[in-house]
Amino acid sequence: MGRARHVGRGGEPQDEQREAFLWQAGHCEGRSQLYAELCRRFAGDPRVGALADGWEGRVPLQILGGLNYLVLGGEASWDDVDAALDEHGEFLRRFVAEQPVQTNEVQRSWVLLPLFLHAVGSADLHVVELGASAGLNLLWDRYRYRYEAGSWGPEDAPLELGGEERGRLPAGPLAERPRVRSRVGIDRAPVDAASEEGARLLRAFVWVGQQERLARLDRALEALRAEPPPLVRADAAEELPNVLAGLPGDGIVLVFQTSLFEYLAEDARERIRETIDTAERDLVFVASGRPRGVPRAWGMRIYRPGGRREFVGHADYHGTWLDYEL
Ligand SMILES: C[S@@+](CC[C@H](N)C(=O)[O-])C[C@H]1O[C@@H](n2cnc3c(N)ncnc32)[C@H](O)[C@@H]1O
Repeated sequence: MGRARHVGRGGEPQDEQREAFLWQAGHCEGRSQLYAELCRRFAGDPRVGALADGWEGRVPLQILGGLNYLVLGGEASWDDVDAALDEHGEFLRRFVAEQPVQTNEVQRSWVLLPLFLHAVGSADLHVVELGASAGLNLLWDRYRYRYEAGSWGPEDAPLELGGEERGRLPAGPLAERPRVRSRVGIDRAPVDAASEEGARLLRAFVWVGQQERLARLDRALEALRAEPPPLVRADAAEELPNVLAGLPGDGIVLVFQTSLFEYLAEDARERIRETIDTAERDLVFVASGRPRGVPRAWGMRIYRPGGRREFVGHADYHGTWLDYEL
């Protein structure tokens, strides 16, 4: 995962396939050795080339996710990827065509929380997540967080999140206690994580070998099953104005997105920013996006109505480190 990639400027499909997999290999390096190796191998494999009609977006991750989905169901093995490609080509082709990448990474809540507290203080909140997937990050206030400056969240939380602070956070925001009055996620393909099928899908998009991520996901799924968040099946840019119109007038609306903008066309991103800019109420939008000179990282921004924008620093796109100036 990462920021937008440009492939295939007039190139042949094989060149686009190669470029897409080598780009993804760079992202997997140091995070999933198996995926990094497979990406390099798949870069020139014509069987893999036949699984997709184009190489825009995150097709390599969809192919790896489809393979992992089969492995998790006992239908294929990482020890014989050739057999999986030979026997399950049709399934993988359909998976790539129909299944968007569903990396619902709850560790991202650790890089979001300081920005939420900085932006909204101790207000009453109506929370809206765009591209929520199963909604694991929509439940951010139910988790416990560790930072060098202190902790935040219920002591008996089912999940405790920590990470690497490259820039030390101030203690001030950790004293804030916002209250979530309502929450809703918008996703064009929401995942019902309370079902076995939904849980398998989310696990399939955890990169193989990342045991800590998998364990964290399982704990988050358990917490979610106690009270799943409401999710609306819709396009985020289209639905956001309707959702905002239906919210009570009191409190602050906290809209956020991680890892959605890189899947949207520029006009959809612009529509969302315009909805935020023209909102006539107390509202903040916390978003991951392009970094400023830091490779393979997110630049984190806070948007407010009237076109006010604040660049607050960088974070890892799986939420393992942050570097903010708050
Ligand atoms: C990579 S996942 C990220 C999930 C979650 N935001 C996170 O950070 O863990 C991207 C999500 O965006 C959703 N998505 C993609 N395009 C969308 C659109 N146009 N409108 C709403 N959701 C969309 C996908 O279905 C998927 O759930």
